[in-house]
Amino acid sequence: MVKASAPGKCILFGEHAVVYGQPAVACSINQRMVVELEEEHKFESWRLDGGILNFSKHPHIRFLKDQLWPDGEHSPLKIRIRGTVPTASGLGSSAALSVALVAALQQLKKEKVSAEAAGLLSHQAEAFAQGGKASPIDTTTSALGGFIVLSDKVEEALDHIGERTLQQGDETTTWQLHSFQAEIPEDTFLVIGNTGVHGSTSKQVAKVAKLLAEHPERYVEIEAIGSIARKGIEALRTGNMKLVGKAMTENHIVLRSLGVSSPDLEKLIKAAAPSSLGVKLTGSGGGGCMIALTKNPEQTVGAIEMEGGRAFISPFNSPGVRIETLSSQDDSVQ
Ligand code: PMV
Repeated sequence: MVKASAPGKCILFGEHAVVYGQPAVACSINQRMVVELEEEHKFESWRLDGGILNFSKHPHIRFLKDQLWPDGEHSPLKIRIRGTVPTASGLGSSAALSVALVAALQQLKKEKVSAEAAGLLSHQAEAFAQGGKASPIDTTTSALGGFIVLSDKVEEALDHIGERTLQQGDETTTWQLHSFQAEIPEDTFLVIGNTGVHGSTSKQVAKVAKLLAEHPERYVEIEAIGSIARKGIEALRTGNMKLVGKAMTENHIVLRSLGVSSPDLEKLIKAAAPSSLGVKLTGSGGGGCMIALTKNPEQTVGAIEMEGGRAFISPFNSPGVRIETLSSQDDSVQ
């Protein structure tokens, strides 16, 4: 049996504007997805969490199986999935699952387990599962951990880690991926607050597209998010948490004006703000999650929960994909 885990992510700066070429910054969180694999000699079919695996419901698993065993020559596998990344909340649970699955499959095939290869293959699997539309930010952040910046051009001030290209029909999309080292004081945490309402990424993206088509003058807001993201990156690199928080709140104000916040998000953001350095929605909005940068994490969690949100504390720099030892207790995988 083999076991691997990979973290979820949240977007610190730049959601929506990244669709129009501005940089977006994501970081790994301490919630992880865990995958266990075992060769299944007793049964004819692959199994998932005790039942027969229906590949049409799990296209990313089918994609990986076809990539790794193109001739189909492999005995069925038994897959067990656990994890603490909430699903459909903009925290990258699907990407974390694909990344952990690739690493577990690499281990099972006795190949070198590589975070880079896991990031690349899991992005292709996510794109296949989502009909060719996945950006590589979730899978790259989950595979490598730490801070990842996605942009349509090479950002000179950052460590360029590579280029990703996806073919969607006649259209080719190219992204540049970067990482950077952030100076985060030990007393500073992210608190993630979940509204429990599932926002639809495609609907939110379409809403912004419609607004910009009808009011092209509002592209200045997209550019404003880009400058805020660059300011945020600089503040993270120099460890200026006050400035990071200020940039987060500024980013939120622009997102709200673009119409992608929601009354539930606003309620949690308002509750978290007094105990935080900065607050914003994270991901596509319309529901999903908000984040707070805080030196008073328990107080911030309490304030969010008082308003009916579910909240958890995440330290920064959670590690990327890793192989778990089989003797490790469940709770050793945070
Ligand atoms: O909801 P999430 O975490 O998948 O974030 C979507 C981010 C957007 O910028 C809104 C869309 C995109 O494809 O980048």
